[in-house]
Amino acid sequence: MPGAADHLHFDLTTLPQAARYKLVTGIVVPRPIAWVSTLDAAGHVNLAPYSFFNVMGSDPPVVAFAPGDRSDGTPKDTARNIPPGGEFTVNLVSRELAEAMNATATDFPAHLGEPQQLGIPLEPGVSVRTPRVQGSPAALECREVQTVVIGATRIILGEVIGVSVRADAVLDAGKHYLDTAALDLIGRMGGRGGYATTRDAFTIDRVTYEQWQARTAAPDAE
Ligand SMILES: Cc1cc2nc3c(=O)[nH]c(=O)nc-3n(C[C@H](O)[C@H](O)[C@H](O)COP(=O)(O)O)c2cc1C
Repeated sequence: MPGAADHLHFDLTTLPQAARYKLVTGIVVPRPIAWVSTLDAAGHVNLAPYSFFNVMGSDPPVVAFAPGDRSDGTPKDTARNIPPGGEFTVNLVSRELAEAMNATATDFPAHLGEPQQLGIPLEPGVSVRTPRVQGSPAALECREVQTVVIGATRIILGEVIGVSVRADAVLDAGKHYLDTAALDLIGRMGGRGGYATTRDAFTIDRVTYEQWQARTAAPDAE
């Protein structure tokens, strides 16, 4: 196997899909979880978790998530429910909601919406028609702006047009300061069923070039 002595190198272009999945999902961690609520044409609410997910910018705010196809090659309900310009809500997942979130990854038939089957209370959307999960500490209301397909990878890009945050996590509504720790969000780790909390957080101050120069010139000054 090529590579430096202390690393193993894997050529993903020659490996089967299952191996590629294990490698990339074992390395890119923790991944936030988009618990996506959508509406089908008949008005049934669908809810499912997606950890190929993140926010990609803020001007405009854009989120991306990637629903793969089922093993029979058909799109998952979430992807089917988001046509061009379609609405969806990304509910963020707290530790308290982990088990309920996991239960919604069960492949219920489309007409039996997960929230109804599992008794997950919903609240109406504000900027979109799709409802949010009542117990979720924060929800992003989105409108699809583009869907990028690369092979069997489908990436849905949505503009975030509204945000609902549980009141206790809003420190200053006028200044838009949030207490992110209060959200107690979880992330997806590698391996089967692995998760992480966001409780073990730390801060590092950013350093300007002038500060870096000052420190380098006088390393013992601090
Ligand atoms: C934590 C977690 C993360 C997941 N992330 C993804 C993902 O990024 N892409 C995907 O296609 N499926 C993912 N799944 C599996 C889907 O949630 C599952 O296939 C679900 O049944 C899809 O539901 P739907 O057909 O209602 O959209 C994930 C499951 C869990 C539990």
